[in-house]
This record gives sequence, structure tokens and C-alpha cells, in this order.
Amino acid sequence: MCGIIGIVGKKNYYKELKDLLSNISYRGYDSCGISIVGKDGFSVTKVIGHPENLPEEIDTGDSTIGFGHDRWASHGGITEANAHPHVSNDGKICVVHNGIIENYLELKKSLIEKGFTFYSETDTEVIPNLIQYWYEKTLNIEKTLNIVFDELKGAYAFVLSHLDYKDTLFLARLGSPLCIGMYDNMFYISSDIPSLPHFVKNTVVLENNRYAILQANKTVIIKNFAGVPSDFTTEELSSIQVEYSKGEYKYFLEKEIFEQPEYIRTTLLGRVSESNNFIKLGGIDSNLFKILKTDEFIFTGCGSAFYASQIGAYAMESIAKIKSKAISAGELQYYDFIANDKTTLVCVTQSGETADTIGCINNFKAKGAFTLGIVNVVSSTISRLVDCGIYIRSGKEASVASTKSVVNQILNMIIMAGLLSSKGTSKKEETESLINELCSLSYKVEKILLLSDKIKTIFSNFKDCESMLIIGRDKLEPIAKEYALKIKEISYIHAEGYSGSELKHGPLALINPSRPTIALVENNVLGIKMIANIKEVTSRGGVVIGVFEEGCSEEMISTADYSIIIPSNKNKILNSITFLIVGQLISMHLADMRGCHVDRPINLCKSVTIE
Ligand code: F6R
Repeated sequence: MCGIIGIVGKKNYYKELKDLLSNISYRGYDSCGISIVGKDGFSVTKVIGHPENLPEEIDTGDSTIGFGHDRWASHGGITEANAHPHVSNDGKICVVHNGIIENYLELKKSLIEKGFTFYSETDTEVIPNLIQYWYEKTLNIEKTLNIVFDELKGAYAFVLSHLDYKDTLFLARLGSPLCIGMYDNMFYISSDIPSLPHFVKNTVVLENNRYAILQANKTVIIKNFAGVPSDFTTEELSSIQVEYSKGEYKYFLEKEIFEQPEYIRTTLLGRVSESNNFIKLGGIDSNLFKILKTDEFIFTGCGSAFYASQIGAYAMESIAKIKSKAISAGELQYYDFIANDKTTLVCVTQSGETADTIGCINNFKAKGAFTLGIVNVVSSTISRLVDCGIYIRSGKEASVASTKSVVNQILNMIIMAGLLSSKGTSKKEETESLINELCSLSYKVEKILLLSDKIKTIFSNFKDCESMLIIGRDKLEPIAKEYALKIKEISYIHAEGYSGSELKHGPLALINPSRPTIALVENNVLGIKMIANIKEVTSRGGVVIGVFEEGCSEEMISTADYSIIIPSNKNKILNSITFLIVGQLISMHLADMRGCHVDRPINLCKSVTIE
């Protein structure tokens, strides 16, 4: 969604500020702006579109404090007036803000009655004006903030500068992330840890209901919303803080798809060992006893992470034999669910910041459930909220469409199911066989990636099609849905994922030559059923591209008009990953051939921090 960045304690920082804004733009943007805090006031520059549209150069003079914002419109259209920063009526307070002020209409009305004028349609603009209103009464910024925190309702993070405190930057957090990077007596502020400059190795992640006071060459001061000083920890940033570029690839998406074998191996390191025949997950180790008492697992997430959750539930039930289901987080948080201290909620998320998923954690905790995160971004909100969790080790994912993270989410949930089963019902040979299969997975993925050109050639025939249908069975049903999501998301072709079994209950009516069907066919009994589905489509004039698991017979393969054959897995749950890779390549090639914004699809953003 929106992104906040800032620098405290550095001269001539404009270029760096602009780069920080570009770095964080992967989280979403449609307009942006910066504020330079100078001796004579704020110099605010706003533009529509990407931060690269900001001026090449801006003279920052003596200023040592600057901050900026990428906006992803929620309240009000994409206009310069609505872009941040926003300045108070008296021109003395400047604010950038992420999240939502839920009671802004009420506050705005009351401020208008007091004589304030509003120049944008945003909820944000109430913040500087409310601060102005109270500051005129208290003449003390901290006392003012303590009052304002009480008045603002919603989930937010904001950065604020006041001209009476020119050498100071104030940061506040309630629900929306914000962190402070420390480097050489300077501070770098970001609402996204992976977007901090790569040379920053230490960070303080602001907790909820806290504000920070930053001055160059001074230590960080953090207080709670009532103004009481609060303890905080400085965390060391791990290897995720490396400079991130596309390298030889055309898109981040391509890089992220092609580096999957490496990240699969990274995830297995120290967790799954073939030579020592063990599965170990440090993140949940000390809670294993509690987790093993689980009566029911509920897996949740949004979008691709929800489809990954469905595979997680499938793996938990089929491997560990523990009752499991998956419900999308947006629905689950308003669902009248049954949970108790024997329920484990598994939250699946790349960013660790998805608002709906966070909502579920709070609700389940209230009913006494245990909460577990399957998270990529270290120190993200969800990783802090859950009782324990597993970091999926996907590294930075810059493309809006999630690829390597979805694969590692699924992989880690399969490993978790394998671990629980090894402590419970499974036979030693079953665990051994799963371990062997997990250890050979990255090589199979490498082989699938070699099919990229072939996939591009096949789909060049369909790049202008009006719609696509993707069918799969069993664990490949959510994978079919994930294909459809990715195709829609980045190539803008309408696509639907279905269970093959549902075909004749409706979707078959859509079959015609301009609406191709992708059929996901495993080498098992359900694969045979998929062949019947393929015939249903071709006999009605439809075109079928079959993705076949090696081992499917020639006769099966010949039912499709085009075929893509991928390595097989003895443990069929791993087909969820191998088939998924093909879908990533299909959507990337379609998007590329159609000239779409592959890394930054329109209307979408990387991290959905509002409901
Ligand atoms: C699609 C995609 C989204 C995310 C969803 C959840 O390619 O990336 O559907 O999976 O927005 O995001 P996280 O995983 O950050 O909770």
C-alpha cells in the first residue's frame, strides 16, 4: 500500500531520499511526495505516478531532515492535492501517513467548524490540522501528541515535523508498521524493513501505541501514547539487507521465479537433512508440545497466500492426520468460528502486514487459540503478533506478484506437517521418503524452469485470448486458482480456476476456441479423471494445454492439443509446487508478450495493510 521513508541527520540527502522512495514503491504507489525541512519552512514537492517523476535535483540547503511518501489511493482520487505530505493550515506541521483514520469525517467536520480549511479529500489531512489545533492550546508538541493519539481512531503510522522543533522528527505507530534504521549517527526511516538502505544493519521496529523522537547524533527516544518512556530493542538486520537489483533479468518477477531453486535449498538448510534424516523447525521447536495437542488447524491468508493455506491444510490432514481447514482471512475475521485452546491458527503471509490476516490473529487469540505464522518478512507485524512461527526464507520479493514466497510458504507447511507426523502417527519410512523428496525438489524445479521457452512458444498462440479456464483436482484445485489469479493479476486476461469435477456443473458452457483451457494432470487416479475433463473440452471445440506429470501415458498426453511435461513426485503433495512453477512462467510470458507492467500490475500493491 503506501510507503513512508525519511532521513534524519544528513546533508544533501535529496537523491538518497528519492532512491528510498523508489525502493519502497514496490509496495504500491500512484503518486508521491517529499518534504524538505528547511530553516524557513517546508519545501514540499508532489507528483503523480512513480518517484522517478520527481525532479532530478532539489537543493536541500542546510536541511538535515527530509521525509517522503508513496501513496496508494484509498481516500480520494489520484491527484497532487491528495498526495502526501500534507501541511497544517498554519504551515507549521507537515505529515505523511500510512493506514486509515477511521473517524476522519467526524474530526474533519469538527475542525471545519473551528475554522480550518481542507485542501484534499484524504483522511490524512486531519492529522496536521488536529495537531495545530491542540498545539495552539498546549504549546507543547508532546502534550499535543498525547491528546491527538486519543482522538485518532483507526490503524496508522505517521511521520511528523513541526517548525518549532526543526531538528526533530516525530514518528507514531498504531497498527501500521514503521521502523528506524541506525547508521553513523543518522537515522533512516521506513515503513518496510526490507526497503531500508542495504548498509543499515541495526533497526528499531516501533511497537504499537508508541511514538519516537529522533534527532541526529542523539539516541532514539520512544514513549507510549501517554508520554511515558518505553523500553525498546535494537535488532540486527540479517542477510535480507543486501542490495537488490534485477541483475541479468528483464523483470524482478523473472528473477524471483528463476531463483526459486536457490531459495528452496535455503529454506531446507538446517531444517531438513537427508544425511541425518531429520526434520527440525527452530521457530516452533519450543512450542511443539503445545502444537501437538492441536485438535484442529485453521490455515488462513489472502490471495496467493490463501491458496497456499489450502495446500497447508491439505498437507496437515494428509501427512500429519490432524483435522485442518483453510478459510480466507478476509472472511475468517468476521466469521462466527469455533476455536479454543486446542485450535491452532496458521497465518500465511509474505509481507507479515496483511490487515485481514492480522484481524484473524486478534480474534483467535481472544478465544484462547494458539497462533503460528508462516512469514517471509523478518520482524514484520504478524511475526511479532503470533505465538511462534516459521520464517520462510524467500529473501526480498520486489515484484508485486508473489512467486518464490508462495512456493516457500507451501514448502514450509509441508515440512511442518512432516515434522508433526514424525512426532505422531507416521512410520519412519514415510518420513524418510518425504525428506528424500524434499531434498530433490529444487532440482526438479530447475528442470521445469528449462521449459520456459517452450511455455512461451505455446502461449504465444493464446496471448490475445479473451479468457482462460484452468482445471485441476485435489491439491491442484487451489493451484489452478493460483494460476488464474496470477494470469489475471499480471497479464490482465480474465481467468478462472476450477476443480475438474466442477466442469460440467457450469463452466463447460464457456468453452470455445478463443477461451483455452489449461489442464493440470497428475500421474494418478485423479489424472485419469482429468483426461475425461480434457475430452469434455476438446469435444466441444475447446483447446487444451495439458500440464502433465511425468509418467502419464502417451495416450493421456495425446488428449491435449499442447503438452508440457514436468518431473514427477512420489509424494504427490509436492506436485502442488512443481505444477505451480509452470503457472508462474505462463503468467509471466503472457504479461510480457502483452506488454503489461509485469512487476507492478495496475491497481495493485505488494502489501495490503488496510481491510
Ligand atoms: C498475488 C499476491 C497476493 C498476496 C496477498 C497476501 O500474487 O501476491 O495475492 O498473496 O495480497 O499478501 P501477504 O502474503 O503479504 O499476506
